Amino acid sequence: MRLNVPVLDAAELAAVAEVLESGYLTQGARTRQFEAEIAAVTGARHAQAVSSATTGLHLALVGLGVRPGDEVVIPGFSFPATANAVVQQGAIPVFVDIRRDTFNLDPTHLEVAITERTRAIMPVHAFGLCADMDPINEIARRHGLPVLEDAACALGGVYRGRAAGSLGTAGVFSFHPRKIITTAEGGMITTDDDALAERIAVLRAHGAVRGELFMEFVDAGFNYRLSDVHAAIGLAQVQKLAAILDGRRRAAASLTARLADIPGVHTPSAPDGVEHTYQSYVVLLDDDIDRDAVIRAMRDRDVETTLGTYGMHLQPYFRERFGIPDSALPETTHAHHQALTLPLYPQLTDDDLDVVARALRESVATSTRETA
Ligand SMILES: Cc1ncc(COP(=O)(O)O)c(C=O)c1O
Repeated sequence: MRLNVPVLDAAELAAVAEVLESGYLTQGARTRQFEAEIAAVTGARHAQAVSSATTGLHLALVGLGVRPGDEVVIPGFSFPATANAVVQQGAIPVFVDIRRDTFNLDPTHLEVAITERTRAIMPVHAFGLCADMDPINEIARRHGLPVLEDAACALGGVYRGRAAGSLGTAGVFSFHPRKIITTAEGGMITTDDDALAERIAVLRAHGAVRGELFMEFVDAGFNYRLSDVHAAIGLAQVQKLAAILDGRRRAAASLTARLADIPGVHTPSAPDGVEHTYQSYVVLLDDDIDRDAVIRAMRDRDVETTLGTYGMHLQPYFRERFGIPDSALPETTHAHHQALTLPLYPQLTDDDLDVVARALRESVATSTRETA
């Protein structure tokens, strides 16, 4: 059983064929329609399609005025693209520890991470659960800093009545096949800030603005556009968004009920007022369970699992460059070693979920660490 299977059918095939037959392939009408759909879903004034969440994060950081040598505060526990986007701008990622119960940035550790070189705060909505944005926004406001949501996994997530992507100065979604909806590769930047949206529009397409006859290059921009081929897939996908979210939430509730009595396995949940997308269903295992042995035992039972996500300070590039000790990020380090992602997608049947639960129960039972 695979970890994730995108929900694709004849609608995406027809949408792609239509674009190919039109002969207009790059950013155009389909992209504009897709952007309008995501703006409607998130309630943001502007939604701008990009080639991935990684390029979207980079572009948003540039648009927000982050420059080489600046610091950007991010949680320690994320897919390393979060930190890579900061490094690509020549800036320094400053890692903050997470909360054990949500895997999200712990706001009680945020303020001490802010220095005079801090230019932005970038919370991640881990696995589709919105970070605790009220205290984060309050600290950011006090320090005059913009907040960029890494909402890669959180399309359809809700925090206290407001949609992910509309909770900070700007937000960025991913449409990689493991995300809520997919365009194969792709992303979207959302913001209510007109001036930021304008800068992003120019920088996204070579730094060019249209003159009467020719383009004029007013900045050394990027080519981070999404093609209409990809946008057409996204348009077909966004029609399924409500059903996909509903399916993921139902499957998550069913799986949680099946795992409830497995000793040492802590299932995910959402704080009051927060709606999880369950882009990934991630459990935390007690320390006496060898997570990597569980992954191997699950594989032997034909069930694909993986780690939760990465303690970025443990990855070779960040370890060698910044040398952050595990003791500075204890919860991040713990989650890196003990979190486990299980298969979860709307197409899973009750029988499939029984298979996952049984495989986990058996795998945990045979993966106990020798204790001294
Ligand atoms: C939290 C987070 N941020 C950023 C990314 C990068 O997304 P993309 O693959 O669209 O560049 C991912 C992808 O896995 C992610 O999980």
